[in-house]
Amino acid sequence: MKPKRVVVLTGAGISAESGVRTFRDNDGLWENHRIEEVATPEAWAADPEKVWRFYQERRRQMNEVEPNPAHIALARLQREREGTVLITQNVDDLHERGGSEDVHHMHGQLLTLRCEVSGRSEQRMDDASLGDDFAFCNCCSSPKRMRPDVVWFGEMPIGMEMIYDAVLQCDVFLVVGSSGHVYPAAGLVRAAKEAGAHTVLVNAEPPTNVEAFDEVHLGAAGELLPGLVDSWLNEMN
Ligand code: APR
Repeated sequence: MKPKRVVVLTGAGISAESGVRTFRDNDGLWENHRIEEVATPEAWAADPEKVWRFYQERRRQMNEVEPNPAHIALARLQREREGTVLITQNVDDLHERGGSEDVHHMHGQLLTLRCEVSGRSEQRMDDASLGDDFAFCNCCSSPKRMRPDVVWFGEMPIGMEMIYDAVLQCDVFLVVGSSGHVYPAAGLVRAAKEAGAHTVLVNAEPPTNVEAFDEVHLGAAGELLPGLVDSWLNEMN
């Protein structure tokens, strides 16, 4: 029997138990900030200081949070189920710090900044790069201002071709901690289902695309995933 190919898509819910705010829960980020004012190219053009402060606050928080059992369980799934593809909408590095490798950040990352001229990304988590003053690149002869290395609304997510390839060929598509509001990520479960995959959800509450899931586990990812990964690995081996 050929090994089951597993693709995992995570959202902000998987980092909630690590203390990283989600976007659309009650105390979520979009409660305090209008998306249009901090997460679009137009916002960056209109008020770069405001956008910069929003992301610098989230970047600084990366030094204060730790991966939770959900991140660690997915890293185990990747290690023990060869070929598992991990795609995340999250811009934190908690999957990597939880032991995952080859994490595909389709919405970019907080740890790196991007030169506005060359488009090159640099890891910039040193104290000097975490203040409210703009950071400048090391790639241009005269240093240029850098922007957050994240995908804003209206920009193309990263690696969609690879993502669709993986999703359309998988046998199991697992979504953890996403409200199913933002496309194209929210449409991947239907693409997987139409391609014949068994679709599984682990989420605190039913997301807007809940009807696309064959198997639904409602609850906290940090509490549910370790046991679920145990049972899936036993089934698959
Ligand atoms: N365990 C499991 N699920 C949880 C937990 C938890 N501990 N806490 C919250 N959730 C669920 C919520 O019920 C919600 O359905 O996680 C989901 C978080 O949804 P959002 O805040 O909308 O985050 P996400 O789906 O990742 O947003 C997608 O929107 O704002 C953009 O670019 C941003 O990548 C983000 C995208």
